[in-house]
Order: sequence, then structure tokens, then C-alpha cells
Amino acid sequence: MRILPAEAVDRLLAGSIVAIPTETVYGLAADGLNEAAVRAIFVAKGRPADHPLILHVADAERAAAHARWDERADLLLDLWPGPLTLVLWNRDVPAIVRGGHPTVAMRVPDHPIALEILSAVGPLAAPSANRFGGVSPTRVEHVGIEFPGLPVVDGGPCRVGVESTIVSLLEGRPRLLRPGSVSLEELMARLGGVEVGGTIAAPGNLEAHYAPRGRVVLVPHGTPGAHVPAPERTEHARRLYDDLRHHDALGVDPIVCELAAPVGIGLAVNDRLMRAAAG
Ligand code: TXA
Ligand code: MG
Repeated sequence: MRILPAEAVDRLLAGSIVAIPTETVYGLAADGLNEAAVRAIFVAKGRPADHPLILHVADAERAAAHARWDERADLLLDLWPGPLTLVLWNRDVPAIVRGGHPTVAMRVPDHPIALEILSAVGPLAAPSANRFGGVSPTRVEHVGIEFPGLPVVDGGPCRVGVESTIVSLLEGRPRLLRPGSVSLEELMARLGGVEVGGTIAAPGNLEAHYAPRGRVVLVPHGTPGAHVPAPERTEHARRLYDDLRHHDALGVDPIVCELAAPVGIGLAVNDRLMRAAAG
């Protein structure tokens, strides 16, 4: 069910969940400081309680109020609003948002509707608006397929198309936990050294399957004839989930996907493709 941003604000303030657009993928949002509202996200998604959510905030000041700020974050600040999530030590974010971990993941999304809602409601916990283990929604119609009847604000197709880059600042060296459109090259240039990989101790990090129902078979970059070819890099990311859904809806099995060149956002595309193929 499509709703306007003002209605989303009313519903969120009343403790309900609604889907909202961001520049990466659509999110399933709740008032991030209202435990009962956040619990409804876990129930709707079928997500394990120890799998933490991202807290979306209106600006960096808000982020610094809820977590222990890290000077290294200052080197990344001009990437906000944008597809970059920082993991910091928690200050006062409810445990349910953090999956019980002592840390919190935060980002400022770069979408006018998301920012409008954030400034009216305050921090929003929001995972991707898909069922647990499924493909993230990048168009408003996808949200209706995942959650029929769920109120959703239409923000058009998502500009980035893959989930945000996640960087942990918990250790001595920054660590890239999830590649996204803020590239490893860009992070290296700003931070110096960046460790790659590793994840929060959520069993198997299952959610990260991003899998359609049909099998996904990967072919090397440059192989002709794939169902999901690798076009220009940013375009590839933008279309990736829509293409997977499209072929899945047609019953294509296996879905043959061409890997991207492993640079820039190509790392994120290949990460999601490998998870889809493993699922
Ligand atoms: O682009 C995005 O990030 C989208 C939009 C809606 O903002 N959100 C998103 O949320 O992808 P979700 O829940 O599908 O993925 C969040 C990821 C999970 O892999 C989770 O493990 C990780 O963030 N995460 C959340 N809190 C964390 C923490 N404290 N430490 C490490 N990883 C964390
Ligand atoms: Mg997700």
C-alpha cells in the first residue's frame, strides 16, 4: 500500500513499521528508540534476534550522540549522506537494535524522502525490506511482493542498487565488513590501511544470502551470453537485484550471471552474486 511521507511519519511515531526508500535499497523502518516498534521488524522479516540492524540518522551529530565517536570517522564524514555505514561502540541505542551486541551500525542515507522522515521522527532502525535471506528490494513494486499490504513510501528506483558499504572502526585498523558503492579504493585513500572481511559473530551471517529461488550460476567477467550480464559498473549494481528477480519470476533455473570486473563497486556486485550462488 503506497503512502505519502507525512503518513509514514505519523505511523512511525505511533510505533508502526513502514517501508521507505533509500539510495541503496528500500528499508523496513521503525522508530529506532522504540523497542516494541523495532521488535516488529524482526517478526515481519523472520530475522534472528541476534542479527543487528542499522540505525539510520539524520546527520553525523546525531550519530555521535548515540555512539562513541572515532576520529577516523571524521575522514569519512563528507561521504554522508551516502551509502556508507559505520560500526562504532554503542552509547545508548536499545539492545534490540544492536542484536544484543555492544556496538552499533549507523548511516545517514542519501535520499530526500528518507532524510525528510528522519528529521521528523528521529533515528530509524531499518534493514532491507525483504524477507530473511531474500533479495533486497530496489523498486517500490519489490516491497509489495515481499510484504503484501505493507505501507510503503514510493521513492522511485534506488539509485545505487546494492546495500551500503559497512566499515567497522572498533579495532586498531578499520575493517571493511561489506563492500558497497563506497569502494575499497576510496576507503584506502582516506584511511590508509583497511582490513577486509570478517563479520559480526552472528551465526553464519545467514541473512547475507541475497538469494532468489532459482539456482545462481556465476561465469567469469567477459563471458558472453549470461542472463544477467555485467554492463557498465554502476549500472550493473543498480540493475542487479531487479535482473535477478526478473529471471527468477520467469522461472529461469539456473540463472547465469556474469561476474563484474573486481574493482570499485564491482567488488560489491561480486560479493552479492557469490552469496546468491551459495544460497
Ligand atoms: O544500504 C543499506 O545498508 C540498507 C538500507 C536500508 O540502509 N540496509 C541494510 O540493512 O542493508 P540489513 O539489515 O539488510 O543489513 C545490515 C547489515 C547486516 O549484515 C548486519 O550484520 C550488519 O549490517 N550490522 C548491523 N549492525 C552491526 C554491528 N553492530 N556490527 C557489525 N555489523 C552490523
Ligand atoms: Mg538485508
